[in-house]
Amino acid sequence: MGNYYQGKKVWLTGASSGIGEAMAKSLARQGAELVISGRRKEKLQELASELRTLAENREPHVLAFDLGSNADREEAIEVVKQLWWAPDLLILNGGLSQRSLVMETNLEVYSNLMEVDYLANVHLSKAFLEEWVTKGEGQVAVTSSLVGKFGTPYRSGYAAAKHALHGFFDTLRAERAGDGLKVTILCPGFIHTQVSVNALTGDGSALGEMDQAQAKGMSAPRFAEKALKAIAKNKAEVYIGGKEVLGVYLKRLLPSVFRKMIGRAKVR
Ligand SMILES: NC(=O)c1ccc[n+]([C@@H]2O[C@H](COP(=O)([O-])OP(=O)(O)OC[C@H]3O[C@@H](n4cnc5c(N)ncnc54)[C@H](OP(=O)(O)O)[C@@H]3O)[C@@H](O)[C@H]2O)c1
Repeated sequence: MGNYYQGKKVWLTGASSGIGEAMAKSLARQGAELVISGRRKEKLQELASELRTLAENREPHVLAFDLGSNADREEAIEVVKQLWWAPDLLILNGGLSQRSLVMETNLEVYSNLMEVDYLANVHLSKAFLEEWVTKGEGQVAVTSSLVGKFGTPYRSGYAAAKHALHGFFDTLRAERAGDGLKVTILCPGFIHTQVSVNALTGDGSALGEMDQAQAKGMSAPRFAEKALKAIAKNKAEVYIGGKEVLGVYLKRLLPSVFRKMIGRAKVR
């Protein structure tokens, strides 16, 4: 396959932490041109200077914005259009999790999760469709979750938003594969990042704690390596993690057994 990412123009969201940060480093090493996004500009600037070292002084573009704001998204899309017309590869990785039972979760939390984890990704990918179709090629990868394949306790709104991604991106792939559009859905299991620390609780405040499952999970660089291989191979959907990945197959093959187990699973 050679070096798939050499010279590719990649816009990566969620680059300021965890999985996205690890992907940014690997992409820089492999010669990609990068626009890195997240809300925290200073964190992105620190990462940019690390990436310069990894990438023989190639300069990444820092584009800080809030995925939860329609106006911010419009501006960010315009910046990327001015810079590149369209990215060769859009990696929609930014996201926000949840740790609260349905009974204790405010409606605004559901709305926030849907905006950041689902609608923002629809908005950003739709923005370049015409360009990709005109060019006859384009590629988008989106970070869903195993929770995009089955719901678990404490993650009702997060699971709903991640499930919605599968509906949208499976449809996009089906509609546009003939125009050369490639779509990969990444489904991480437990990965050692800040995801649980940043997760929303029922009143919208952050949990502020590292879950045991994440603490013991796969490292972000290892995840990034597997995810980037899957994107380069144009895999439609991949499950990456530890034994929690088996849940996908158990739900498919033995749904009633799966239903009994998931209610008792230690997911917090
Ligand atoms: N770690 C896991 O176990 C796991 C499992 C399944 C799925 N995932 C998914 O993996 C992706 C990456 O998460 P992670 O594990 O690396 O967690 P993380 O360390 O919390 O990183 C989340 C990233 O998303 C960005 N982000 C969050 N809200 C944002 C907003 N409103 N606007 C712009 N950027 C925003 C953050 O940037 P700022 O803070 O700078 O805004 C950060 O770069 C997410 O989509 C997550 O749902 C993770």
